[in-house]
Amino acid sequence: MEPQAPLSPDVLGWTETIANPFPAYRALRAQSPVRYLRLPAGEITGRKEPLYAWALLRHAQVHAAIRDPATFSSDSSAVLQAHRKFTLLEDDPPYHTRLRRLVSKAFSPQRITSLTEWIDGLSTELLDALGTGPVDLMATYASALPIRVIAALMGVPDSDYPLFKRWSEAVISYAGMPAEERALKFEEMMSYLGREVAARRAQSRSDLLSALVEAEVEGHSLSDSEIVMFAATLLIAGNETTTNLIGNMMALLADRPELWQQARENRALVDPIIEESLRYESPVQRFPRVTVRPVRIGEVEIGAGELVDIFFGAANRDPAVFEDPETFRPERPTNHQHLAFGLGNHYCLGAPLARLEARITLNSFLDRFPTLSRGAQPAVRQQAAQVSLGYKTLPLVLG
Ligand code: HEM
Repeated sequence: MEPQAPLSPDVLGWTETIANPFPAYRALRAQSPVRYLRLPAGEITGRKEPLYAWALLRHAQVHAAIRDPATFSSDSSAVLQAHRKFTLLEDDPPYHTRLRRLVSKAFSPQRITSLTEWIDGLSTELLDALGTGPVDLMATYASALPIRVIAALMGVPDSDYPLFKRWSEAVISYAGMPAEERALKFEEMMSYLGREVAARRAQSRSDLLSALVEAEVEGHSLSDSEIVMFAATLLIAGNETTTNLIGNMMALLADRPELWQQARENRALVDPIIEESLRYESPVQRFPRVTVRPVRIGEVEIGAGELVDIFFGAANRDPAVFEDPETFRPERPTNHQHLAFGLGNHYCLGAPLARLEARITLNSFLDRFPTLSRGAQPAVRQQAAQVSLGYKTLPLVLG
């Protein structure tokens, strides 16, 4: 039984809320923006004071904030003191604008589309290894596919993907790993990527890293450290997120056998199922901003320099935009208004790739398995990364 309102705003900082944030969103949305204890003192190395943040939980507030980078800066690195800055994701205009134009040249829709056949083949390979019967979907499929796609996109050896996986998990596990250990993993990742970029400078190949080395807009190109930082951003932004989309979507379908049968017969349902999964259980639940100047939201005056958490996952269940928001309904007419990929200047660069991976996955499973159901063991949600909603283990039975 889910806890009922009223709840303290500090529930948004609890580890248990990572696994099921929705009761807290329901209870607190009416008070949004609400100030809460994000981190107790000492949680991050070097931070002696507790860290408070404002939570934006309504669709209209989230929508407005992410379209206003002049008020809401994406650079929270100084406030959080948690890691080195992630290129693009944590940059503001005008630097962000220049960089985004350059990387978009290399990370182009054509490059994504050209991967279709390869991803299809990878999905088949993973499914062949799975067979039928009971499986943990996370260990066998959902964790492997996105990371191997990113490795292939960048042009690094497929055999190195377990390293990528370890690094990207470490970087986002704020609640699950000591800061020193996370920093060490981050440095390992940066050295590895540095060597890969240097190799492309020496000899170009037909991969994304080479395209980034060669990208040029109005006489500007990217430095080696910019490419390394962008590659690190891709690893972090494109891996766990897509893994969680696949896991969340398949769990939702395992609980809806009729929908599974309908989708097997009518593949026009595939895209609406993906969009509704993104809305209903958004893989990225929240992301920070820092106010550059004072701003009034509703009744609340927020000063300059304050940490603000944008709750995409709460906005996507706001009854003001989504009727009956707590029900999974792929046919709902408004599901395209979800903010699971953000909006504005930071709109997810990898959204077409994530959708492609989800589409290939869902079609491959629908082709192969007449039934999909839950396994005997209960599924376990991850509780290490506040930013994400996803499964650690997801036992399913493939029919
Ligand atoms: C279901 C999967 C995914 C979800 C839910 C997701 C979600 C998001 C969100 C919410 C943002 C905006 C953050 C903000 O406003 O501060 C974002 C940005 C970004 N995403 Fe994704 N993402 C996904 C997959 C991917 C993939 C596959 C890649 C690339 C391989 C990727 C690369 C990026 C990059 C580079 C940015 C930063 C864009 C910028 O700041 O200009 N994402 N993503």
